[in-house]
Amino acid sequence: MNIIDKLKWRYATKKFDESRMLSNEKLNVLKEAFNLTATSFGLQTIKMVVIEDKKIRESLVEHSYNQKQVLEASHLLIICIQDEINEVDVNNYYNNIKSIRNTPDEILDPYRLDLIKMMKRKSNEEQQHWSKNQAYIALGNLMTVCAIENIDSCPMEGFVSKSYDQVLKLNEKGLNSVLLLPVGYRAEDDMFAGFKKVRMNITESVLEI
Ligand SMILES: Cc1cc2nc3c(=O)[nH]c(=O)nc-3n(C[C@H](O)[C@H](O)[C@H](O)COP(=O)(O)O)c2cc1C
Repeated sequence: MNIIDKLKWRYATKKFDESRMLSNEKLNVLKEAFNLTATSFGLQTIKMVVIEDKKIRESLVEHSYNQKQVLEASHLLIICIQDEINEVDVNNYYNNIKSIRNTPDEILDPYRLDLIKMMKRKSNEEQQHWSKNQAYIALGNLMTVCAIENIDSCPMEGFVSKSYDQVLKLNEKGLNSVLLLPVGYRAEDDMFAGFKKVRMNITESVLEI
C-alpha cells in the first residue's frame, strides 16, 4: 500500500477488537514517533501518557461521553500539556542541546535568554494555548504513523479534561490532558470501517495560486 492508500485505510475507529493487543514493538514505535514530533523551538512542553490498565480505563468511559474506545482499544494514549512553562524548562532544553551537540554557551546563551523572555511575556493561558498547538501536531503525527504501521486509532477531543486530570492525578505531575488517541485493532463488526470516506473535492480544499 502506498501512503495515500494507508491514509484511506485509516478511519476514526469506533469499535476496537478487545482481544487484540499492540506488541511492545508497535507501542515503542508510537512512543518514538511522539518523542520525534517537531515542536515550536524544540521545547517539547507536551507529554504522552500511555494507559493499558483496563480498570483505570473503565473509570474514564463516563468522562468520555460514554465513548467506549477508551476502554476497548489495546492502549489509550493521552496527549498532555505542561500547565506552565518556566525558566527551568528552557534551561533544561538548552542544556540538552549543549550535551548532545557540544555547542558552547556563548552561542546558545542569546537564544536561551530570548526564549526565557518570550515565555515570561506570555500569560499562563497563552502558554497553554501555545502548548496545545504542539499537542495537535503530535496527534496528527501519531495518526499517520499508526496508519503506516497498520494500527487503528481514534483521535478524540470528546472527553472532560478536568475529570481525566483528577482521576489520573495529572495535576500532581504539572500536566493537563488535551487529546486522546485510543490505539489497537478494529473490531470485525465496526460498521464505520466499511463507510466511504467523506471529504471535499480536492479542488475545494487545496487552492493553487
Ligand atoms: C481533533 C479531533 C477530535 C475528534 N474527536 C472525536 C471524538 O471525540 N470521538 C470520535 O468518535 N471521533 C472524533 N474525531 C474523529 C472525526 O470525527 C473523524 O476523524 C472525521 O469525521 C473524519 O473521518 P475519518 O477520520 O474516519 O476519516 C475527532 C477527530 C479529530 C481530528
